[in-house]
Amino acid sequence: MQKALATAFSLIIFHSLSTRKVSSVDTLKPGEKLNSSATLLSASQTFTLGFFSPQNSSKSYLGISYTNENESFPVWIANRDSPIYDDSGILTIDNSSKLMIMHNGADDAIELYAAERGTNIAATLLDTGNFIVTEMNSTAGKVLWQSFDHPTDTLLPGMKLGINHKTGRNWTLTSWFSLRDPASGAFTLEWDPIRRRLLVRRRGVIYWTSGDLKLYQGYDTSEFYQFDYIDPHLRYGFINVTTEDEECFAFPLLPSDHVSIPELPWNPPPWRLNYQGNIYAGGRQNVAQVDLCYGYNTKGSEIYLGCELWPQPECRNSLQNFSLRHGHFELNTARIFHDNSSTLSQSDCRANCWNDCQCAAFVDDEFGCLYWRGNNATFIEDSAPTGRELYALISNQYPPPPSPSPLAPPPHPPSSFRNKHKRRKWIIVSVTIVAVFLLMLGSSFFLGLKYKQGTPVHCTKLLFKDFSIDPISRHS
Ligand SMILES: *[C@@H]1O[C@H](CO)[C@@H](O)[C@H](O)[C@H]1NC(C)=O
Ligand SMILES: *[C@@H]1O[C@H](CO)[C@@H](O)[C@H](O)[C@H]1NC(C)=O
Ligand SMILES: *[C@@H]1O[C@H](CO)[C@@H](O)[C@H](O)[C@H]1NC(C)=O
Ligand SMILES: *[C@@H]1O[C@H](CO)[C@@H](O)[C@H](O)[C@H]1NC(C)=O
Ligand SMILES: *[C@@H]1O[C@H](CO)[C@@H](O)[C@H](O)[C@H]1NC(C)=O
Ligand SMILES: *[C@@H]1O[C@H](CO)[C@@H](O)[C@H](O)[C@H]1NC(C)=O
Ligand SMILES: *[C@@H]1O[C@H](CO)[C@@H](O)[C@H](O)[C@H]1NC(C)=O
Ligand SMILES: *[C@@H]1O[C@H](CO)[C@@H](O)[C@H](O)[C@H]1NC(C)=O
Ligand SMILES: *[C@@H]1O[C@H](CO)[C@@H](O)[C@H](O)[C@H]1NC(C)=O
Ligand SMILES: *[C@@H]1O[C@H](CO)[C@@H](O)[C@H](O)[C@H]1NC(C)=O
Repeated sequence: MQKALATAFSLIIFHSLSTRKVSSVDTLKPGEKLNSSATLLSASQTFTLGFFSPQNSSKSYLGISYTNENESFPVWIANRDSPIYDDSGILTIDNSSKLMIMHNGADDAIELYAAERGTNIAATLLDTGNFIVTEMNSTAGKVLWQSFDHPTDTLLPGMKLGINHKTGRNWTLTSWFSLRDPASGAFTLEWDPIRRRLLVRRRGVIYWTSGDLKLYQGYDTSEFYQFDYIDPHLRYGFINVTTEDEECFAFPLLPSDHVSIPELPWNPPPWRLNYQGNIYAGGRQNVAQVDLCYGYNTKGSEIYLGCELWPQPECRNSLQNFSLRHGHFELNTARIFHDNSSTLSQSDCRANCWNDCQCAAFVDDEFGCLYWRGNNATFIEDSAPTGRELYALISNQYPPPPSPSPLAPPPHPPSSFRNKHKRRKWIIVSVTIVAVFLLMLGSSFFLGLKYKQGTPVHCTKLLFKDFSIDPISRHS
């Protein structure tokens, strides 16, 4: 249901952007203006940059999306927290060397990058989805600013997550506020350089981890990095890099020069952290199902793979969760409370209801949260889907998942994922030949990433040193 909604929504959100091929240039030059009916197209037309409006919204945003995919959320948004309230947005490089979005209205122009006065800059949309500002006169094409350094909710191949210890700067994904509102939301995805793992936090609390990045033995003698709690069949070539200043994580673009099988998706699909904390790979398979996490550490259970522990009220237990159901409460057993604070996202409503022992159901709306409270609130599910749809607290009757001793090692991915992916067996079989090839090819690349200890270089240089595709420089 929600997936269908998400799909329907995404079909519409970018419909106008991808069908508007007004320009076929990839570069904005000083003095040029890109208004809401024009776009930039990357050199091979993979990505489009332009203004878009979510469905039924008059707000507009500057974003980048895949050009030819129907099911596509924007992979980057320039002004997620400063929407333009009409379609007056114009992207331009003004005469004082600033890349900015001008628009009608009381607010000032939105400045994306300000170069030193007199610098001749241009902004280019690359085929990697990176939007870069370069100095036009410099022969080296030095990158002064790039959208990859300002991630929104999507990790494209070639982007990194991580931290620069010297500058304190970090690269993290932040979810949308809701299904339709791209404003910064409750969930973040970050790289934990100490444990070498990925973390999803909700308002700072760790909800999910990927498990540690580990070297696994391939089908032959090859070795490759995987996480304990991420399906290895997604076939990402994860890499982690440590330099003197930076520690980071990425999955690279694969070098197309070495590939001649046309059907194979050589560029792995991007990851999107959605407003419920789930991570989707290309809108299809889940990388992480974070909305199943309620703070019970159920290691060993396939459903709750990666869920973390956090303090729970005594009235709750690990058999309970909220489930979207049509229904109502028995007369006089529950009272409705409206908290119309617009800063509350769906996950805030859920957390508040969970922590309130009288709360038996919630729904989120555009104004905040509705809660159904009562000591003896009795939910009655409709036999036909006629009543209101709400997230009702359900006490599941299934036996509790096994709780292995805390010292037990986490399950090895290939076995723990076996049952979950039984139905996809045919896919696995069909890709095995290809996967072996990929692993052989991949491991030689990933393990071949040698670096000199202590050299003050940045992650991205190392990540893509050995790859034929550089996400930052324009190809010569
Ligand atoms: C955008 O600019 C083009 C060409 O200058 C113009 O024809 C078009 O009407 C403009 N669109 C908007 C929405 O202002
Ligand atoms: C958009 O508005 C139309 C007409 O008011 C309505 O039927 C539709 O449900 C709305 N869509 C969303 C996603 O709110
Ligand atoms: C996109 O939509 C068009 C028409 O709605 C359809 O013909 C095409 O196959 C779709 N493409 C993808 C990749 O789904
Ligand atoms: C720069 O642009 C501003 C506003 O667009 C204008 O007032 C100013 O005269 C311009 N300066 C130069 C040197 O062109
Ligand atoms: C950059 O190049 C432009 C035209 O090629 C020239 O007019 C300008 O003076 C140059 N600027 C610098 C700082 O070299
Ligand atoms: C990343 O930076 C933001 C602000 O720049 C900060 O709030 C956040 O705590 C940082 N995260 C980490 C993991 O350092
Ligand atoms: C990546 O992490 C592993 C540990 O999981 C570590 O042994 C390896 O040195 C790291 N690679 C780089 C390039 O830092
Ligand atoms: C609630 O828990 C049950 C039992 O594990 C599970 O099947 C169901 O998918 C969960 N529902 C939600 C919405 O989390
Ligand atoms: C929210 O609730 C407060 C107090 O109940 C009320 O004054 C305010 O008008 C409400 N705002 C909206 C948008 O409903
Ligand atoms: C709770 O509600 C049920 C059904 O409405 C009722 O049978 C029961 O007596 C109630 N219990 C208390 C303690 O009120």
